[in-house]
Parts: sequence; C-alpha cells; structure tokens
Amino acid sequence: MKNRLNKLPSQVQKILKAASLAAAKLDCSIYLVGGVVRDLLLRRSVFDFDIVVEGQAIAVVKVLAKIFKVDFSRHHAFGTATIIVGGHRIDFATARVEHYIYPGALPRVKPANLVDDLKRRDFTINAMAISLNKGDFGRLIDLYDGLSDLKKGLIRILHKESFSDDPTRILRAIRFKERFSFKFESKTGKLLKQAINTKALSLVNSHRLRDEIVLILKEPKPYRYIKRIKELEGFRFLHPKIRLKPADFLFFIRIEKELVTYRRKFRKLRINQDWLIYLAGIMLALPLKTIEKVMADFAFKKGERIIITSIKSKLKEIKKLEKCKKKSLIYKLLCPLSFEAIIFFYAYYPNKNLRKNIDFFLETLIFTKLKVKGKDLKKLSIKPSKIFGNIFEELLYKKIDKGIFSKKEELSHVERIYKRLSLKKN
Ligand code: CTP
Repeated sequence: MKNRLNKLPSQVQKILKAASLAAAKLDCSIYLVGGVVRDLLLRRSVFDFDIVVEGQAIAVVKVLAKIFKVDFSRHHAFGTATIIVGGHRIDFATARVEHYIYPGALPRVKPANLVDDLKRRDFTINAMAISLNKGDFGRLIDLYDGLSDLKKGLIRILHKESFSDDPTRILRAIRFKERFSFKFESKTGKLLKQAINTKALSLVNSHRLRDEIVLILKEPKPYRYIKRIKELEGFRFLHPKIRLKPADFLFFIRIEKELVTYRRKFRKLRINQDWLIYLAGIMLALPLKTIEKVMADFAFKKGERIIITSIKSKLKEIKKLEKCKKKSLIYKLLCPLSFEAIIFFYAYYPNKNLRKNIDFFLETLIFTKLKVKGKDLKKLSIKPSKIFGNIFEELLYKKIDKGIFSKKEELSHVERIYKRLSLKKN
C-alpha cells in the first residue's frame, strides 16, 4: 500500500508521517481506516481521511495542530478530533468498541484496540486499515477479506446482527452498492431484506435517517439510488404515504438532464443543493402540510425547508409561465424562488413557452437593477417607510416592462408612483 500512500497530496503525506512520529513518541499505534482505505484500493480520489489511534487520539492531534499551526475541533464524548489542512479533513478517533443497547440506538462506546474497532464496522470493504506505524508504515490490515470483496464487487456485512444493530446500514448498503455497481453478497442480501421486513428503519432516530438520505441524494446521478430504495425499502421511513410511480422516475431522469443543461447554459448562476430537487420530487405527492411536518420532524435546515415547500406551494402558479408574456409577471413568479426550485420546474414542465420564460428570466431579467437608491428617494422628501419598498417594487416592474434606462427617467417614474401611492393612502 506504500505506493498508494505516496500518491496522496504531499501535504497529506506530511501529516500522515508526522502523525506516525507523534504516535510513536506517545507510545500509541495509529492506522488509516474505513472508506479511505477502500477508496485508495479502488484508486479513487480521497479528500477525507479517517485515522484510528490505539491510545489517545486527542494527544496525537494536539501535536499535529502545533506542528502544522492549525486549530482542531474536538468531540469529547467520542474522543475524536478533526484538523483541516490544505482542504483535506482529517478525523482522528480513539479505537473503540460499540455496544448497541437496543436496535437502532446510538452506540455506547468504549476505548479498545484496532481489531475491536474494525469488528464494529458495517461492511468488509469498509473494515480495512493501513498501518501508519513506524516499522510497518503502509501495511494493509484486512481481517475480513475486504480486498477480495472489493475485487469481486461484493457488499458483505461482518456479522448477522449488523443491520439490526444499526439499521441505517440498510441505506448505506444501497448507497455503496449503487456507487460502485456492486452486488450484495447472498447472506447479506437476505439479512438486508429481513431487516426491511421487520421495519428496522422505523427504530432509527429521524436525524440519522435524514443524514443518510441526504448522503444518498448527494451521490452523482441519484436516480439509480432512488430506484433501488423504492424497490427494496420504499420511502416509508420518510413518510408512509410516499409511493413513487414509474412517471416519477422519468422525472428524476429529467432532473439529471436539466441540471447538466442548466450548468452548461448558465455558468455564472450558482446551484449548490441538487439533492433538494430530488427530495422535493420524492415528496411532491404529499400535501403541503405533510411536507412541512416531515421537514420539521427530520430537522432539515430552515433554508432547505423553504426550498422544498416553495416548490410544492408554487407548483400550480408556475404553470402560468406557459402562457405568460408579461415580463414583470415572469419576474414576479420566478424571483422569489431558489435556483433549485427553478430547475425543478424546468424539469417538471415540458412546455416550450414556460421553459423559454425561465431562460429569459435567467439570462436577462434576473440582472435587472435599479439605479435609484434610498438616498435618492429621501432627496425627493419621501420619508423612509413601507412606501420605499412599494416604490422600488413598482419601479422595477415598470423598468422591466417598459425598458427605463437612465436614472433621470427612473426618478421621474418615482415621482409619479409616489404621488399615486400617497393619493391612494389618503
Ligand atoms: N461506519 C460503520 N457503520 C455506520 C457508519 C460508518 O461501520 N453506520 C464505518 C465504516 O467503516 C465507514 C467509516 O465508519 O467506512 C466512516 O464512515 P463514513 O464516513 O460514513 O463512510 P465512508 O466509508 O467514508 O463513506 P463515504 O465514501 O461516503 O464518505
């Protein structure tokens, strides 16, 4: 494995060597573990590194933080710490055993050695380690034939209670299977189905389920993953009434396509949360109130909730874009929406005129800016109040529809709008 480690970015190599020395001085043993080992063996790019220390992980991190002059964050309960160097996240954990007091519970952890630490892991391909210890630096430690399963393309659990101990592994198994186009080893496949039949996922804390579904939807081309979940488990873990139909899958494929088109066409516009578009698609058939409840129960962030609920609540209104010709109306309909919601509608409605209007909004309307500022209104003796907002809004729509260009023209419109609005008020 030494040659694989030598291909890592030089900054990471320096850290691994320094970690090795620090551990030796502290009389601890130290290993790279889990997904990073799997990905190095698969020759995939690695950005995040998990390191296990037999002894005190924190002590090693403190030494490294000093050498590399970086801060570290620490999680006392789990004895873990993280440093970020050159864009790479390096997590250090004290080797531990996990004990599940009931299925789906968060595990109780106790310090242990590497063998115990590997024994608690989900799949053989994720249960390998590489020694970083002086003397055998770079040696692969493969207690469960993970390398052979990697070669055969198999997802295999380490023991038969794996899915019942931690049912999130049902979703993880699907994620890794689809990511690598692997198969379930036959016993693992049977136990996975058994766990599904006993509704094991219903025992898991909603926050953990949320993290898993987000990870799945963040995978490139999540369509395949959604399909596999539907075939195996369904989405009842999110809500019992989610039932995806074949047409929904055609829609997910269109989302994938539109995301590519959108990124090519509108390079400057940022869309960061593709996964939300898919999640909105999964929940679309639920009533708005139910979607709001699911988003709250699973503690999605406020911004995420707004995007998902805006998609559901604006679904019908956006249809107006099929016939709409008035530029300011196009603006009014699309401006409050996130780019994620816009892409959703782009994929949802095949109508040519609707898509043309969205294009026009993204290419042109979105860049409309007023030249008049608040201070210009004050100069016209307009007192800052709610009326400011109303004037700006109306002026913007006028500018969009009538093509007002100079500041002078804008100001004369301001005066007219102001007169009309104050007359209305009186
Ligand atoms: N792990 C586990 N059971 C879980 C979650 C994690 O056994 N429910 C172990 C696995 O050994 C996994 C490691 O913890 O490799 C790190 O977890 P995570 O970062 O979630 O997985 P990665 O394998 O690194 O996956 P990814 O490539 O998606 O980051």
